[in-house]
Amino acid sequence: MKICIVGASGKLGQYMVRHALDRGYEVVGVCRERSVDKLGAFKGRISVVAGATNDREVIARAVAGCDGVLTVLVPLGVDNYSSGTAQAVLDHARPGARLVFSCGWHITRDGLDVYSWKVKALVKVVGRLAKLARLVDLDDQVEACRRIFASDTRWTVVRGSDLEEGDSQGLPVWSRHTGDPILDSNITRRVDFALFMVEALRNDELVHEAPAIVGRQTPSAIAHAATTPAP
Ligand SMILES: NC(=O)c1ccc[n+]([C@@H]2O[C@H](COP(=O)([O-])OP(=O)(O)OC[C@H]3O[C@@H](n4cnc5c(N)ncnc54)[C@H](OP(=O)(O)O)[C@@H]3O)[C@@H](O)[C@H]2O)c1
Repeated sequence: MKICIVGASGKLGQYMVRHALDRGYEVVGVCRERSVDKLGAFKGRISVVAGATNDREVIARAVAGCDGVLTVLVPLGVDNYSSGTAQAVLDHARPGARLVFSCGWHITRDGLDVYSWKVKALVKVVGRLAKLARLVDLDDQVEACRRIFASDTRWTVVRGSDLEEGDSQGLPVWSRHTGDPILDSNITRRVDFALFMVEALRNDELVHEAPAIVGRQTPSAIAHAATTPAP
């Protein structure tokens, strides 16, 4: 399996590189020129294409011949970075490739997600302030996901809860909608978010799904497991 990791130098990206190498995959990483050194620990084990992730030529080169593409969607800046990145991957990945994108719970696919007033207020206020400061554009991440959901590629959009560092707790559990009690704990180890992304490459049940994930050992996941009969 040959895969491309778009945004490989970030925290999530580096965990995904490790999981992919552990599985014996051939890995091509994409990151900004200034971040190439962050991938030094993988020197000789992965190939790196340096450049902006929304540069269509960079993505075309990086995803050539790949069976899967893992993309870290970040709403940074106000130059359509997320939607530009997503569009480049959608357009240039080979037909039939597995495409897995990361984002947060704030993205909704069908409008049936339930959010607390706190989350709604945070997204509204912080989102507006961050956009005004030209730091973050949450609307562009929404647009990126709208395009992914509308595409006929083999996509999965993995929606992360709040994140923390720490040892793996195993593969996160998931639900189609936030507000589902299984997700109440709202915390996932970053290493396990990465694990879910990499495992999704081989899980066809996740094609055309937007799973909202939560840590496997969190109280809400454990409580749900205790009340769910084994298959
Ligand atoms: N943080 C959270 O609590 C949280 C919660 C839920 C979901 N998520 C999702 O998780 C994913 C990764 O989140 P993370 O917090 O773990 O971040 P991360 O892995 O550290 O990723 C940040 C990414 O953004 C890039 N980046 C940073 N500054 C940039 C700039 N000015 N222009 C362009 N690219 C820039 C980084 O590249 P360089 O290495 O080049 O800097 C890196 O690839 C995202 O999809 C996010 O929506 C995060």
